[in-house]
Amino acid sequence: MSLSISRIVQALEPSATIAMATKAKELKARGETVYDLSLGEPDFDTPLHIRQAALEAMEAGHTHYTQSGGLPELRKAIVEAYQATHGLVYAPTQVVVSNGAKHSLHNVFTVLLNPGDEVIIPAPYWVSYAELVKLTGAVPVIVQTRQEDDFRLTPEALRAAITAKTKVLLLCSPSNPTGTMYSPDDLGALADVVLEKKLTVVADEIYERLVYGGSRFASFPTVRPGLQDRCVVVNGVSKTYAMTGWRIGWAMAPANVAKAMDDLQSQETSCPCSVSQYASLAALKGPQECVAEMLSAFAKRRDFVQQRISDIPGLSCANMTGAFYAFINISEHLGRKYGNRQIDTSTEWCLELLAQQKVGMVMGSAFGTEGYARASFATSMANLEAAFDRIEAFVK
Ligand SMILES: Cc1ncc(COP(=O)(O)O)c(C=O)c1O
Repeated sequence: MSLSISRIVQALEPSATIAMATKAKELKARGETVYDLSLGEPDFDTPLHIRQAALEAMEAGHTHYTQSGGLPELRKAIVEAYQATHGLVYAPTQVVVSNGAKHSLHNVFTVLLNPGDEVIIPAPYWVSYAELVKLTGAVPVIVQTRQEDDFRLTPEALRAAITAKTKVLLLCSPSNPTGTMYSPDDLGALADVVLEKKLTVVADEIYERLVYGGSRFASFPTVRPGLQDRCVVVNGVSKTYAMTGWRIGWAMAPANVAKAMDDLQSQETSCPCSVSQYASLAALKGPQECVAEMLSAFAKRRDFVQQRISDIPGLSCANMTGAFYAFINISEHLGRKYGNRQIDTSTEWCLELLAQQKVGMVMGSAFGTEGYARASFATSMANLEAAFDRIEAFVK
């Protein structure tokens, strides 16, 4: 006998990135050497001083529930960091700390959306946005962007997608999965439409510190006066400080939205993990050289990956300016036979690449855009070299 599952959860797509990573892990468990470029998590250990702060927190007995929206000193540190970097002023009570930025996004959508509301999501998009929106009964409206535009939503395309039901625009910059970023001017042009049409913006800025080649990151609320009141910024420690397993992210929002998220969270999870909050406090307040070191390693890998993609016939990708992903155009290699198998879709291509060459990548269709595959370069240079040799052999 099986118990029935709610309609809303039945309609949910499981995370394709996690599914591909699981397949790669299964192959590894069978003793195969696998080059896994599927998961988006830094391969570095969490810096020592952050781990030590967690140990000290446990020793000091900070192992109890905290305030539901997060420790006051952590919320203050987040506010200070945003003010120092972007000149944005928030009250600590406008910050809600959650169990990872994914959880923050879930809270944001839950408090903002009613069934039937529309959320504009530029594609290619990070796998969880559309599913988290659907959980609220709201409707994701997917707007395709183009490689020629570095996968940036244009103000014209935004305007064309707005209906009477549009409530939220989702922006992710630097972007997972495309590795591209909006310039301050691009954001300004979108902001003009947002202000005119009175939209709410959810700005996912989790890759804010991972920016390459002198490109300038701008936090969305800074690009026009008045935007801060229409915007929820989501960020966290997972990517910047190699802290994916600690599960700490946050949202900064207008006061009534933050209060609603805090209330929601008090019923959902009581609070984020106490020890992880102390570790995150150490991450924000402690030495920042670790971030610069990881960034410099990512930058070298980014250059390598960009070059290899342009050297392999029939592959291309946009100029990568942020995050740690290459969104590789494989369309020239679809509609062909690989050995005796016809490969037409990005899913078939990625599965065949894994089966033949033991390289794990995620199909573009999982990000709403067919004809592409995403490679994460959050792995060692040696792995990247071997993986790209194999990708080259595969397409040849
Ligand atoms: C764009 C984007 N937003 C949010 C997240 C979630 O991060 P966290 O680990 O803090 O939940 C990820 C993780 O892959 C991401 O790529």
